[in-house]
Amino acid sequence: MTHASNPAKPFLQSLKGNAAIPPPCWLMRQAGRYLPEYRSVRAQANGFLDLCYSPEKATEVTLQPLRRYGFDAAILFSDILVVPDALGQAVRFQEGEGPKLSPIRNAAQLDALTLDGFQDRLRPVFETVSRLKTAIPTATALIGFAGAPWTVATYMVEGSGSKDFLETKAMAYGRPALFQRLIDLLVSATGDYLIAQIDHGAEAIQLFDSWAGTLPEDEFAKWVIAPTRRLVERIKTERPGIPVIGFPRGAGALYQAFVEQTGVDAVSLDTGIPLGWAVEVLQPKVTLQGNLDPVMVVTGGPALDAAVDRILSICAKGPFIFNLGHGILQTTPPDHVARLVERVRAWKG
Ligand code: CP3
Repeated sequence: MTHASNPAKPFLQSLKGNAAIPPPCWLMRQAGRYLPEYRSVRAQANGFLDLCYSPEKATEVTLQPLRRYGFDAAILFSDILVVPDALGQAVRFQEGEGPKLSPIRNAAQLDALTLDGFQDRLRPVFETVSRLKTAIPTATALIGFAGAPWTVATYMVEGSGSKDFLETKAMAYGRPALFQRLIDLLVSATGDYLIAQIDHGAEAIQLFDSWAGTLPEDEFAKWVIAPTRRLVERIKTERPGIPVIGFPRGAGALYQAFVEQTGVDAVSLDTGIPLGWAVEVLQPKVTLQGNLDPVMVVTGGPALDAAVDRILSICAKGPFIFNLGHGILQTTPPDHVARLVERVRAWKG
């Protein structure tokens, strides 16, 4: 099977290492609650996961930000937590409280998870990818995604979001063989999931490792770099030509080891990464993406303009994709997003 990318898609050209003025642009979490049209579809769904598992609704909310802003990429509308859900660890989203799962703390709970029926439960997500493939404009690329194993494992072990990751770290540091089994299961499941997204039409993959920045260097190597490298190797072997973007959020100077050791084609920079350093150390090796502070888009006005210009002037001479340093915030005025996109599009270098 070949996956030759369409040369007319600027986003895919950037991932191949080509610089462009203006650079392509999309925003993490570009579909979501800041858009009134999202809230209206969301209100018709029977909870958030039902929205993720309803191909018609998920396709519609993926397309909404494209209609408003004409981004260069669409990202499949789903969530990183459909993977534990499909492994048999039921996930609930409680209004205003975030995700809730019954935690995995021992071998018996881990053994209750299974890859049997995993792909079947995710079939609605693949159906969404198929629909998007034909629904998006020809110059727009389709991004598939998954959570990276470390970040997904934190939700599975804590049973919710967390501030200190006490339970997950206790397992990773104190019972590394048990934690390795969980990570191995996630590497297999996530690999199957991403390959199927590619086979249904995803043209690039982003791995979200939102909590990568909480680990010390040697644990980062074991639980962030190693599983990511295995996933990248599998995609490169089984579906050559599909680019992978890594997002080890909060990793600081460890971004360098991540770039050198995982084999990703691009890295998404969080808001805290110094751009001069990223251009000097990372951009010779990979395409950069990021890193506008999402709060700048809430703020808007001249502060937003200046922040956009600064990022473009530092990063856009090399391969670069304009994006945020983390997901768009719920309180973001949609007009500020329009202003941002116009500003990027008008950039002349
Ligand atoms: O980028 C996109 O537009 C695609 C969709 C997408 C969502 N979540 C939709 C979503 C993507 C790529 C994600 C990734 C995701 N999900 C991450 C990694 C990125 C990051 O932000 O760090 C994480 C950690 C999750 C887990 C998750 N999902 C959390 C912590 C929450 C928040 C719970 C809440 O109620 O605020 C979600 C829910 C979620 N995922 C929403 C959306 C639009 C909001 C839920 C709703 O509409 O009710």
